[in-house]
Amino acid sequence: MKATLTLVILALSFKLALGAAAPSDRYNKFLFGADYYPEHWPESVWEQDAQWMKECGVNTVRVAEFAWYLMEPQEGRFDFSLFDRAIEVLARHGIKTILGTPTAAPPKWLTHKYPETLAVYSNRQPVNDQTRRHYCYNSPTYRRLSKRIVDEMVRHFAANPNVIGWQIDNEFNCHINECYSDSCRAAFRTWLEGKYHDLDSLNQRWGNGFWSQWYTDWDQIDLPFPGPAQQNPALMLEYKRFISDSVISYQHDQVEIIRKHRPNDFITHNHMFKNINYYDFVRDLDIFAYDNYPCFWEKPQYGVGANLTLARGLNGRMMVMEQQTGPGGQTYLLRSPRPGEMSLWAFQSIAHGADGMIHFRWRTARRGAEEYWYGVLDHDNVKRSRFEEFRKEGLQVNKIGAQILDSRLDSQVAVIKDYDAEWVYDHQFFTEEVNVGSQFEHFFQAASEQKYNIDFISPTADFSRYKLIFGPYLILMDQALATKIREFVQKGGVFVLGAHTAVKDRDSAMTDQTVPILVGDVFGVERDEFQCYQPPSKDKNSIRFEEGQSVPVHVFADKLKVRTAKPVGEWASDYLRGTPACTENRLGQGTGVYYASFFNLDSARYLLSRYARRLGLKPLLAGVPKEVEVTRRVKADAEFYFLLNHAESDVKVQPGAGFVDLLEGKPAPAEFLMPPFGYVVLEKKK
Ligand code: GAL
Repeated sequence: MKATLTLVILALSFKLALGAAAPSDRYNKFLFGADYYPEHWPESVWEQDAQWMKECGVNTVRVAEFAWYLMEPQEGRFDFSLFDRAIEVLARHGIKTILGTPTAAPPKWLTHKYPETLAVYSNRQPVNDQTRRHYCYNSPTYRRLSKRIVDEMVRHFAANPNVIGWQIDNEFNCHINECYSDSCRAAFRTWLEGKYHDLDSLNQRWGNGFWSQWYTDWDQIDLPFPGPAQQNPALMLEYKRFISDSVISYQHDQVEIIRKHRPNDFITHNHMFKNINYYDFVRDLDIFAYDNYPCFWEKPQYGVGANLTLARGLNGRMMVMEQQTGPGGQTYLLRSPRPGEMSLWAFQSIAHGADGMIHFRWRTARRGAEEYWYGVLDHDNVKRSRFEEFRKEGLQVNKIGAQILDSRLDSQVAVIKDYDAEWVYDHQFFTEEVNVGSQFEHFFQAASEQKYNIDFISPTADFSRYKLIFGPYLILMDQALATKIREFVQKGGVFVLGAHTAVKDRDSAMTDQTVPILVGDVFGVERDEFQCYQPPSKDKNSIRFEEGQSVPVHVFADKLKVRTAKPVGEWASDYLRGTPACTENRLGQGTGVYYASFFNLDSARYLLSRYARRLGLKPLLAGVPKEVEVTRRVKADAEFYFLLNHAESDVKVQPGAGFVDLLEGKPAPAEFLMPPFGYVVLEKKK
């Protein structure tokens, strides 16, 4: 026993001596730079590229994520020399490299020799191989070939001191997020067998007696191809979980290889798409990367802010791997950033927790599907105003990067985001007005307008950090979550539950209990019946609060029977008129609030202000008008306030005395004008 222990200790110290980093140490510098595609340009321009990058304060580039065709030009023949040379040129100018593994875009020889690696649409048509992301996560051949290219790549660069991190693949589930291949079907059966063990238990939990769906062999289970009628919601939820686990396990293959040969490098992946449970997904990563393309919105402030909030909350660390720089589009063309907007958006990302800022892309491609996605430089390689804006931003980011690295947003308000519940609504969506994702934008906007930081959290997160929590669309309830909600309220929190909540168990099945199941005592109500208003629902009913405030209904109206709760709002019309529509239930030190409709922007604003006031939450900063967004990041005794003017005009702010303007490096006046799309970072010691 003792001998074994000694061996373990020896092995551990050996590992430490080799310099294996703890996960949190691997990402340890504020990165600034651009996505760079040296393979698309003559080598004769690389030197100038590196010089110009240096001029802009670039310390890092990401390369190679679509270059499999170069790194393995023929099956089994590997050639990394182009990237060796590019990394070397960059390094001479002090620029480090993040390598993207190239698996998002397999080479032609691969898909032609192994057509079984292609993903398949639900109409049984294989995905065409002429763009990208056309592979199947569960194809054993693709898994084998992905592991091989990554293994060769990592071993090739294993001794290169200028490589600092890895991006796995590129944007999992972008463009396509379901696959109906034979490999996926076989993998789905194995995955289900691993989870349920015996078929009768699966039959029972899914309720397969309905429509004679009882399986007598695992091989009868199929993927949810379109059929004449609707699929079983239990199968649909499991299919989504299976897709998510497939991506996670596909990624894990690559993570293992990198950890083995480069234990000190950080590993990341970029962006969020459908059908991935990102709370599970990020466990393998040192930092999560967000790809920020604000021009997909006409007015991006709240949509982007909400996404950044989600991204930074996943594993607590976030960087931006692709920050929109210029105009963009493929067959479509989006609106172009106005002068100053690019850097405002970069600083919005930093304001919401980004610890790294990589812009998409260095120079605009002259050929290919993205010749309209503009980078720092145009096709003709002329320095224009975008270059100047990028240069200025680079100097600013480098000035404050080390100081703000690892500071975190501190929020007292949270909204629960439960991927399982969202997937239930993907299938049983009720009406076109139900959009679970947009809830987060509404809550974000409400909090931002009222100058609070806000977090989006998993149902398994630590609730004790918060004072006010919203639970929108929490259709699935389980004992663990119910207990957490109860304890949170008992200890003094306010928990606001939306309509049609706690209706099903985690199998997406109805139960024999009264809704809201498992938490009826916390909210002191039971649901009697409900109405699902058809679009446009907004004018079909409203909730009138005690003090006269009226909030329009959003789709759902629960009719409540009050047990121990006190009604504080009632339905204004229809047959529900006069019945309770919002209730408060005292439990222990806190309050369980039942809000009997789905949330919309109006209710998010009203309820946030009602309960934040009651809980005595303080806005982040006084004297900041509505056009100006404010967030706070904190680290030890330092508080960093980010002020972002999203308006196209000058705006006066009056934060008061005692702040240092970090970008200017001097005390900030108590009152000052912010120019259109201007931003400042103010520091105050606690
Ligand atoms: C991202 C993607 C990039 C590029 C960019 C602009 O989603 O990761 O490779 O396509 O969009 O379209």
